[in-house]
Amino acid sequence: MDKKIIIAIDGHSSSGKSTMAKDLARELGYVYIDTGAMYRAVTLYALRHGFIKDGKIDEPALEAALPDIHITFQFNAETGRPDTYLNGEKVEREIRGMEVADWVSPIAALGFVRRALVGMQQEMGKEKGIVMDGRDIGTVVFPQAELKLFVTASPEVRAQRRLDELQAKGETASYDEVLENVKKRDYIDSTRAESPLRKADDAIVLDNSHMTIEEQKAWLRHQVQLIMNNE
Ligand code: DC
Repeated sequence: MDKKIIIAIDGHSSSGKSTMAKDLARELGYVYIDTGAMYRAVTLYALRHGFIKDGKIDEPALEAALPDIHITFQFNAETGRPDTYLNGEKVEREIRGMEVADWVSPIAALGFVRRALVGMQQEMGKEKGIVMDGRDIGTVVFPQAELKLFVTASPEVRAQRRLDELQAKGETASYDEVLENVKKRDYIDSTRAESPLRKADDAIVLDNSHMTIEEQKAWLRHQVQLIMNNE
């Protein structure tokens, strides 16, 4: 496997795509980029700088500040995944908090934010040898990616996974509430005007509703092998 390729992984929230992408990158010795973390880092920056006030985003102020926002990743050997850094500060924990979660969707819907982050993502993939996950990787960031996957599972299965995650963190929520939230996020992600979540025409769909992690990994290895053999 000498030839380096670009692997684009898009899909619904809580579909397990980040875990898949991260493990695959490690197996291949590729760089892994979690683009959701980049939108989250911009959201954290906006919150910290008072660009989100009284339930509104100060768009001109955020746009003017974009050149000052530098997002990088550093591999953490302990967790086996990259940590996100915002202007040199590790913010992995902060970007997973509730306040960021509440604001990241509207921030990710802003055209000027998307254009800036897509530019950074394309730069990161210039050397290939990259696995990138998000919502628009196969359609907008790397339409020329050698392998494109679209990962999904039924809303009910994803709600149960999300509920398990929340309970593991000691948070309480009801199944119905989480299911409602999953469906709402699907709707927002796939109907927004800027780069909506959509399967690229040449993406391979993986519905992992009834698959174990091991089955998914075997399936993925097979897809990568097929591409490598054809390259
Ligand atoms: O994957 P995630 O939950 O960390 O993503 C956070 C938010 O960012 C979510 O609202 C979808 C959005 N996002 C996006 O619009 N484009 C991407 N490439 C990645 C994430």
